[in-house]
Amino acid sequence: MTLDNIRALVESDFQATNQMILDRLKSDVVLVDQVGHYIVAAGGKRLRPMLVLLAAKSMGYTGTDHSKLAAVIELIHTSTLLHDDVVDESSMRRGRETANELFGNQASVLVGDFLYSRSFQMMVEVDNMKVLNILADTTNEVAAGEVLQLMNINDPKVSEESYYQVIKRKTAILFAAATQLGAVLCDASDDIEQGLREYGLQLGIAFQLIDDALDYASDADDMGKNVGDDLAEGKPTLPLIYALAQSDESDQALIRKAIEQGGLDDLDEILSVVKATNAIEYTYQAAEKAVERAINALVPLPDSEYKTALIELAKLSLARNS
Ligand code: IPE
Ligand code: IPE
Ligand code: MG
Ligand code: MG
Repeated sequence: MTLDNIRALVESDFQATNQMILDRLKSDVVLVDQVGHYIVAAGGKRLRPMLVLLAAKSMGYTGTDHSKLAAVIELIHTSTLLHDDVVDESSMRRGRETANELFGNQASVLVGDFLYSRSFQMMVEVDNMKVLNILADTTNEVAAGEVLQLMNINDPKVSEESYYQVIKRKTAILFAAATQLGAVLCDASDDIEQGLREYGLQLGIAFQLIDDALDYASDADDMGKNVGDDLAEGKPTLPLIYALAQSDESDQALIRKAIEQGGLDDLDEILSVVKATNAIEYTYQAAEKAVERAINALVPLPDSEYKTALIELAKLSLARNS
């Protein structure tokens, strides 16, 4: 199954989601419209909305609220990207200049807030307390995760465990909510709901691990984001944490300094230490294990083409280069 095959399975629902996102970006405030359309029209993989749709369909959902919740999840994601690029001082996203680069930090933060609160207006329309509960907790966790990460910046003592806490909260929890919501819409049993949630959580962990590996191993053309953003920021992600643990004293001093001070002055040297210590392979292996756990979590689900698509999507996420 390719990504196109998977998308084709939920094509009409997916179109409905995309249309809803566009419709709901509208505002009488011109700058809101401009910034919102700028980031949404740049595309993005739309992976999270796809997860909502596939999860709901895997349990036989026949209504239309899944398309709305898929739009909600994508709007939440989009708002966090607007904020994240300000915090990370990133200049490239989805193959274009970031919104903060083009419109400035103020506009990015405020339009991020607009999209965030728009997503809340939309989730209320679904009129389901459990859905609201999940999304309220999720958005709170994501915010806490980004703050936790901020506390880890420039700290070379950050452990693998602390790194996993960050990626679980800032990224994986939103994936978990996406798939759990599919089950909730279908009033699925607890074991199905927890299975779908765990699938999303593990896939989200794998997804961020790959993102962090690509930050050292890919290029801007493929990724649509700059390589070395994490290093520039002094962000201790798994490739760097592992390289630090595996290298000799002088390389350790180099990595420590890079984390403490940020910047790309030592990029080439750091890249060769990352390579020599097999830190990218190590990060990919961790992602593979998370994908295995994700797929195992789907065992309670009845067989269907949608379940197969969820399994294939998890495998494909390991091979992504953007
Ligand atoms: C980027 O997410 C933020 C991370 C959690 C790594 P995506 O890679 O899904 O971003 P888009 O939506 O496809 O641009
Ligand atoms: C993204 O983290 C997580 C959220 C947006 C909450 P990153 O900072 O690693 O993502 P990119 O690399 O900027 O997409
Ligand atoms: Mg970032
Ligand atoms: Mg990143």
